[in-house]
Amino acid sequence: MQIRQITTPKEQTELDQFLWEVLWQPFDFARDVRQKFKLDKPHIDLVAFDGDSMMGAIVAYYLSDSEIEIRHMAVKSDMQGNSVGKNLVDRLITLVTNQTMQRIKVYARSTSQGFYARCGFKPVGLCFENPLFEKHGISIQPMHLDL
Ligand SMILES: CC(C)(COP(=O)(O)OP(=O)(O)OC[C@H]1O[C@@H](n2cnc3c(N)ncnc32)[C@H](O)[C@@H]1OP(=O)(O)O)[C@@H](O)C(=O)NCCC(=O)NCCS
Repeated sequence: MQIRQITTPKEQTELDQFLWEVLWQPFDFARDVRQKFKLDKPHIDLVAFDGDSMMGAIVAYYLSDSEIEIRHMAVKSDMQGNSVGKNLVDRLITLVTNQTMQRIKVYARSTSQGFYARCGFKPVGLCFENPLFEKHGISIQPMHLDL
């Protein structure tokens, strides 16, 4: 498995499809739902490949010099539980760690909160409902990893 940042438009299109298939298609969300989650900020697109195939990905936005937010995180369904996600988080930490970066934030689905906890993230504040996920029995828990 190789983990690297992607840059080309072709890989961006593949990433968009990959995120859709893992994160939103199972809930029958609109195909363009990712637009709702976009931030107008610089971001890192980190992908785990097996050959040419995407196995997992993180999209993280720089909120400031000291904070970055994991906005999307997905591992291919038949590869989940094989440390792909943990390896991606570890690589993100290596990439962003510098003298000013202090924290990685995530709004974790309740179904993935345990994964982030295993990666060292701590819950911050109360969980809340997002109308898109509430009907699927999923709430959202803000979590932080202090670097
Ligand atoms: C959540 C997700 C990214 C985790 O990636 P993964 O590759 O399956 O996780 P890993 O194999 O690296 O797991 C690392 C550790 O977290 C644990 N873990 C993984 N998913 C978990 C979950 N949903 N709940 C509790 N623990 C979990 C693993 O057991 C492992 O524990 P260990 O250190 O004791 O062995 C992946 O399962 C996924 O894409 N899920 C669907 C989409 C999703 O929920 N994305 C996050 C949106 S906020």
